[in-house]
Amino acid sequence: MNRITSILNINYPIIQGGMGNISNAKLAAAVSEAGGLGTIGCGTMSVEQVEGIITETKRLTKKPFALNIAINVSPHVDELIELTIKHNIPVISLSAGNPTPFIPKLHEYGKVVLAIVASVKHAIKAEEAGADILVTEGYEAAGINSTLELTTFTLVPQVVQRVSVPIIAAGGVGDGKGLAAALMLGAEGVQIGTRFIATKEAPFHANYKEKLIGASGTDAIIIGRSVGRIRRVLNTNYVQHLLEQEKGGISLQDFGQSTTEKYHVLGAINGDLNKGFLNSGQVAGLIEDIPSVNDLINDMIKIAKKQMKSGLTLLE
Ligand SMILES: Cc1cc2nc3c(=O)[nH]c(=O)nc-3n(C[C@H](O)[C@H](O)[C@H](O)COP(=O)(O)O)c2cc1C
Repeated sequence: MNRITSILNINYPIIQGGMGNISNAKLAAAVSEAGGLGTIGCGTMSVEQVEGIITETKRLTKKPFALNIAINVSPHVDELIELTIKHNIPVISLSAGNPTPFIPKLHEYGKVVLAIVASVKHAIKAEEAGADILVTEGYEAAGINSTLELTTFTLVPQVVQRVSVPIIAAGGVGDGKGLAAALMLGAEGVQIGTRFIATKEAPFHANYKEKLIGASGTDAIIIGRSVGRIRRVLNTNYVQHLLEQEKGGISLQDFGQSTTEKYHVLGAINGDLNKGFLNSGQVAGLIEDIPSVNDLINDMIKIAKKQMKSGLTLLE
């Protein structure tokens, strides 16, 4: 038991991060059923699409789950907040933008607010704005990344040192050792994206899961550096095509058009690696199997406890 598990009302401090337009009820519900916290990411989906996933998740689990709203990505932020009120969703995570204007209303309705941050400066601002929990996301993480490029190992302790709200570490955690390490750095929980893709329940294309199993850490590369909008993805034909376009001086607008959620769905759901991309963190290099979500979470807890106990002997 720690502040994260008690505030979020969950058994284990393991959160499945939002996954934009490929978020789904099956994975979110499986994580919540296993004692963690599942999340539905809204990406650029319509309010009706998100409501459909919420309804399905509520059918699959009575346990708490979260909604992730990427502030500068979704065109429907206010409507999505209304949806969380209508459906009594207890936890809202706010990423990709300034959470400050949205926190008072969410608190008025008793919501727990998670803010995703990538620097000490953003962490202090989010705490001052009233965020209940901070998710500190390092540069090794999958998907859209902060251009500040701090790694989880350096970011977590810096933030822990300067704020008093509890911290969840995100980016690079894929097993019990990673969970133990995050807790030792002062986080009280972890948020995971990549590792949850390669699970039985995750309804993504087999090509995505196989690519993750075959990948080494260096296969999770950054695109978009030339236009100042970075995203970590698996190295595929489509990604090579994007990198060629970057070499040719593609504009931010054209790059944005080639990396819309349509291309995310083409890669992750349709499995078309020539036409779409696959988000992945560097932790891909650790993934060797496709367990059930329940087995993965139980194994992580077991190994983390063992690791933390045996770690003591290394200093004696
Ligand atoms: C397929 C995919 C889509 C993602 N989409 C979002 C998103 O819409 N909003 C967000 O805040 N984070 C998003 N992320 C980041 C995750 O929520 C999580 O913080 C990150 O994956 C943690 O790092 P890891 O991949 O090393 O576990 C996404 C990650 C993945 C794998």
